[in-house]
Amino acid sequence: MLQIDNLTAEVAGKPILKGLSLAVNAGEVHAIMGPNGAGKSTLSYVLGGRPGYEVTGGSVTLDGPEGQIDLLALEPHERAAAGLFLGFQHPVEIPGVSFVQFLREAANAQRRSRGEEPLSGGAFLKLAKEKAALLKLDMDMLKRPVNVGFSGGEKKRAEMVQMGILDPGFAVLDETDSGLDIDALRVVGDAINTIMRQKDENGPGKAVLLITHYQRLLDYVKPDFVHVLAGGRIVKTGGPELALNLEKEGYEAVAA
Ligand SMILES: Nc1ncnc2c1ncn2[C@@H]1O[C@H](COP(=O)(O)OP(=O)(O)OP(=O)(O)O)[C@@H](O)[C@H]1O
Ligand SMILES: [Mg+2]
Repeated sequence: MLQIDNLTAEVAGKPILKGLSLAVNAGEVHAIMGPNGAGKSTLSYVLGGRPGYEVTGGSVTLDGPEGQIDLLALEPHERAAAGLFLGFQHPVEIPGVSFVQFLREAANAQRRSRGEEPLSGGAFLKLAKEKAALLKLDMDMLKRPVNVGFSGGEKKRAEMVQMGILDPGFAVLDETDSGLDIDALRVVGDAINTIMRQKDENGPGKAVLLITHYQRLLDYVKPDFVHVLAGGRIVKTGGPELALNLEKEGYEAVAA
């Protein structure tokens, strides 16, 4: 579903991704772990098309609703319309724009670019309430400006409400577990499973790339594969046991 081949990218003239290859099939969850500064967030930004992250080589294809696409050739909003969702390590605050307004705009922009009718106010609100309930997030939170004054955990849960509303085919979640309390971790883990692991009979299926430093989220969202990203490339791939070994023994012992 996502195929990354020999991807190289630089930020501010500094090479960060140095020949990264990764293939994710529909129905799979892949976890990416790795030391600070290895290039994990850079990978998610490059996939999302964030300005300033320059691809210098390699290719990325994604199976969207309309077939296989050359992801790197698309504008960021076109990537989103093709079913890509990015969960940010540090969600941004947008003063002056209420979360419901933002979510409705995002949902309808995607629908428009797919040639679908925008959601009516009533239909959108019903959807937003359903997803907020899934994340156990009070609807009153969504009336506030986007992320302004939200606690770390509230930002992450609100971001998962957004994912539920957009219903992407492929999600890259960058440290979605950071800042979550013990109960919220379970709520978010269950929500990721509900949103991303449900069967999509008509579409190409769904898949998730989970960037994380710890095993804890993987107890809920069980990965099929675990990769270690170090020095800008995948240096080791294993099953779920790899995350446990890393946690016990550290990167130097396991992925040297
Ligand atoms: N705008 C920038 N200018 C210079 N260097 C940058 C810039 N953005 C990122 N980098 C560098 O790129 C490297 C990779 O950063 P990245 O955020 O991808 O790491 P990461 O693997 O996500 O780390 P962490 O686990 O700490 O989140 C780091 O050394 C970082 O300092
Ligand atoms: Mg990061």
